[in-house]
Order: sequence, then C-alpha cells, then structure tokens
Amino acid sequence: MSVPTNAHDTLANVHEFEVVENKCVADGIWRMRCNTALSGLLRPGQFVNVDVPNDASHILRIPLSFSKADAKNNELELVYAVVGEGTKRLSAMCVGDTSTMVGPCGNGWSLPKSDGRSLLVAGGVGLPPIMACARMLAEKGIGFDVIVGAQTASRHVEPILDELRALPMQQGCDCARTLVLTTDDGTRGMRGFVTTAMQDMLAERSYATCYSCGPNIMMRGVAELAHSQNIACQVSLERMMGCGFGACSCCNVELVGGGYALCCSDGPVFDASEVVL
Ligand SMILES: Cc1cc2nc3c(=O)[nH]c(=O)nc-3n(C[C@H](O)[C@H](O)[C@H](O)COP(=O)(O)OP(=O)(O)OC[C@H]3O[C@@H](n4cnc5c(N)ncnc54)[C@H](O)[C@@H]3O)c2cc1C
Ligand code: FES
Repeated sequence: MSVPTNAHDTLANVHEFEVVENKCVADGIWRMRCNTALSGLLRPGQFVNVDVPNDASHILRIPLSFSKADAKNNELELVYAVVGEGTKRLSAMCVGDTSTMVGPCGNGWSLPKSDGRSLLVAGGVGLPPIMACARMLAEKGIGFDVIVGAQTASRHVEPILDELRALPMQQGCDCARTLVLTTDDGTRGMRGFVTTAMQDMLAERSYATCYSCGPNIMMRGVAELAHSQNIACQVSLERMMGCGFGACSCCNVELVGGGYALCCSDGPVFDASEVVL
C-alpha cells in the first residue's frame, strides 16, 4: 500500500518492525525501541501508525510520534502512555515480536525561519516529538532551552530527560542549555504549569521560535505567550484518527481563516497562528 500524506514528503507505506526493547520508563508510560527500515524515512515531528497484533476487534492503528529515528542503526524509538486497550496491548509486545507500521505520516517541524534561540515546551506525552525537535536543532547547531511539564514527578520520563540534557551540539555551538521541569503538584521541579515557567524564561531571554506539543489547552497558553512577544510558534496537534492519511476526514482542525485542515495529512505540526487552539 502506498498512500500520499504530505505532498512534499516520501509516500507513506506499510513497514515491518521488530521490537528490540519495550519497557516501562515512568508511571503508565512505556518506551519501545524497534528495528524498521522506516527509521531512515522519517523527519522530526512526523508520526507513524502502528498495528498492534492479536486483537481482530481493534482494526484501527495507533498514531504515535517518535522521539528518535536512527537511520544508521535502523532503529525507531516511541514513547507512549498506556491509556486504553490498544496501548495496553502495545505495552505487552515482547522483544522479537513483529508487526507493521504505516509511515512516514503527516508533516514535521520546520527549522526556524529567523536567527535566534528556540524554546521547546512539552507537556505529558507531548515529549516524544519535542525530543525529536531537540535532536533536529542540535544537529543544526541551533541553541535552545526546554520546558517539560508533567502532572506529578513519577510521570516525568527520566531517560528522555537525561538524553535531552546530554544531547551534543553538532556544529560547535557553545550555547548552554536550560531544562526546566514542572509538575502540577510540585513534586518535581517548579510547581505549576509550563506556561508559568515559560513566562519566567521569556523575561530572562529572547527567543525567535517556539515549538510545543502537549494538551490543547497548554498549547493555547504557550501560543498566546509566544505571540505576545512576536515569537514564531509551531504546535503539534493530536486528534482521534481513523485512516491517518487523509482519506476519512475524521481529524479536522479548525483554521483561523475559516475552514478546516486535516491533522493527519496537513499536520500534525501547524503554525500556531493559523489554527484555532
Ligand atoms: C499524531 C499523533 C501522535 C501521537 N503521539 C503520541 C505519542 O507519542 N505518545 C502517546 O502516548 N500518545 C500519542 N498519541 C495519542 C495516541 O495515539 C492515543 O493515546 C492512542 O491512540 C490510544 O489508543 P488506545 O487504543 O490505547 O486507547 P483507546 O481505547 O482508543 O482510548 C483511550 C483514551 O485515549 C483517548 N485517545 C484515543 N486516541 C486518541 C488520540 N489519537 N489522541 C488523543 N487521545 C486519544 C480516548 O479518547 C480515550 O480517552 C498521538 C496521537 C496522534 C494523533
Ligand atoms: S485520520 Fe483519516 S483523514 Fe485524518
């Protein structure tokens, strides 16, 4: 099967994958590493649509962003919350199990259009595409700071936070990186929402571009703050998805200028100024 997703991208196709690691990395959150040729075709911010085997009653695939696509080692890293039947069965897949995923799906993050530092803001399992974005910026030598929010300390994904801290800058950029953690209940890092931390960061430093993924209400707050300081802002949206490639029209995103876009094929990454959040 070959289906067009974004006109500018490689066509989405069905790819086999084999699980090389699947383990719990935070409360209710799992990390899967798998071998798949798809890893060489993905751009940061795109997503894959995973078929979880062993339940014929669940015909829909699970859309998931990725935190790392390592073309050299054929490896893809997914980080996902177990919320329902599909993700529960996904978490039960063992090393050596195989299935298929469709991808590359959707568009991805765009590089900053102007010089200057970027601010990355993640909430909950919005972290995987933000991690992929951080890798993209580090490879280009673009300086950035990161805010990661979670409900409570046990929901912070420590291995990914460690990687964020250690990510090497590829082109000699010496910009030190600030990583600010928040929790709603104050059990780790700053107490409160990521937008509170963002206000502090904006008071200390100027940023050219903001990238955000998390709950819709969080991204709305992030986009409002960014726009108040004329900072370009990209957001990665989530919608319930059927096909994942533009055929079923069930993933509408309302546009500021009127009409609707499809989250799966026009997104999931949008310019925040163009969508109703
Ligand atoms: C482009 C995209 C990227 C995503 N990336 C990630 C990721 O990296 N990590 C991650 O943990 N999750 C991600 N999600 C959400 C993930 O797809 C859903 O959590 C998953 O499909 C739930 O499947 P389920 O069968 O376990 O749950 P279900 O039994 O189908 O539903 C359980 C609960 O999850 C909600 N839910 C189901 N599907 C979605 C959805 N597409 N978006 C939001 N809520 C949903 C339902 O409303 C319900 O409350 C992404 C979603 C999209 C659209
Ligand atoms: S999920 Fe079918 S059109 Fe987007």
